[in-house]
Amino acid sequence: MRAALVTRFDTPPRYAEVEEPRASVAHETVVEVLAAAVSPRVRSQASGSHYTSTGALPLVPGIDGVGRMETGELRYFILPDTDRGSLAEKAVIDLRRSVPVPHGSDPVQLAAAMNPAMSSWIALRHRAHLRPGASVLVLGATGSAGAMALQVARRLGAARVTAVGRDIERVADAGADALVDLSDTAGLSEAGRRVDVVLDYLWGEPAADTLRAIVPHRDDDAQTLTWVQIGSVAGPEAPIPSAALRAIDLVLVGSGQGSVSTRDIVADLGDLASEVAAGAFTTQARAVPLAEVERAWHEAATTRDRLVLVP
Ligand SMILES: NC(=O)c1ccc[n+]([C@@H]2O[C@H](COP(=O)([O-])OP(=O)(O)OC[C@H]3O[C@@H](n4cnc5c(N)ncnc54)[C@H](OP(=O)(O)O)[C@@H]3O)[C@@H](O)[C@H]2O)c1
Repeated sequence: MRAALVTRFDTPPRYAEVEEPRASVAHETVVEVLAAAVSPRVRSQASGSHYTSTGALPLVPGIDGVGRMETGELRYFILPDTDRGSLAEKAVIDLRRSVPVPHGSDPVQLAAAMNPAMSSWIALRHRAHLRPGASVLVLGATGSAGAMALQVARRLGAARVTAVGRDIERVADAGADALVDLSDTAGLSEAGRRVDVVLDYLWGEPAADTLRAIVPHRDDDAQTLTWVQIGSVAGPEAPIPSAALRAIDLVLVGSGQGSVSTRDIVADLGDLASEVAAGAFTTQARAVPLAEVERAWHEAATTRDRLVLVP
């Protein structure tokens, strides 16, 4: 069969012939992949920079997708850490890590939306324990996952949602109550006065700068501020001031593979897939044939649409 194959971490995957995957235990099955997205997580897998990377090559990247089983049933699946990913004509899925695709769903839309939507859905439900009426600030709201987080927070009951990022006007139509540019320190202080939850897709210097802007200006230092670390597009490390942890009731947690159990993630997949299928969240997807993966790889990294490969 054909797949996107990574043979070097410094070049895009190539469309190449690879061995057919085979199911080896009862709860596994082979599916025909209909759509699989190239998210930042997949890019970091393909460049060997993700924290789960073992450095082993060659590998077929891809962490999730929509596939058709032999029975004809469509399922959205997430894969375990594997070198036989979903950017391929076929994939072995674990039935326990997959859910039936709601009737009438568009596989491309579903593949594009599930990973970015899941990042905030899981963070808000399992790490921030969002309560209805809370105020949520999304740090890095201009990306796929950040823009989606504005919608997910609202859907899960947030009363106020603030979008923060560079060139933040780009998401003026994404449904936030307030837009604050990352360079606007006074605006960040104001936005942080009563915020309950920060969903942080940036980390690096911007996270530390935002925290510095917020901490001295809280209306009530004892009000819990749950800071959920989700992505690190601005840098893998952040110089968080120690005083921030003493001066206010700051709870610093992360959300991702590991800090949230696979069982909890899988338990939420069905509900989230139904929301996506029902059109609860807007997402921009660009479907490209798998055969064009090498050309589309870099091109898509510079556009706002999520690249979805269609075998
Ligand atoms: N933990 C999880 O469960 C989970 C799940 C999904 C995603 N993530 C992570 O979340 C992060 C974002 O994912 P995504 O899908 O939204 O990515 P994306 O669509 O590629 O968007 C990234 C956004 O970050 C902005 N950005 C990059 N560097 C920045 C900086 N220094 N300061 C401010 N903004 C900056 C980019 O703005 P420009 O357009 O100006 O470059 C872009 O809007 C990634 O790290 C991803 O791995 C985590």
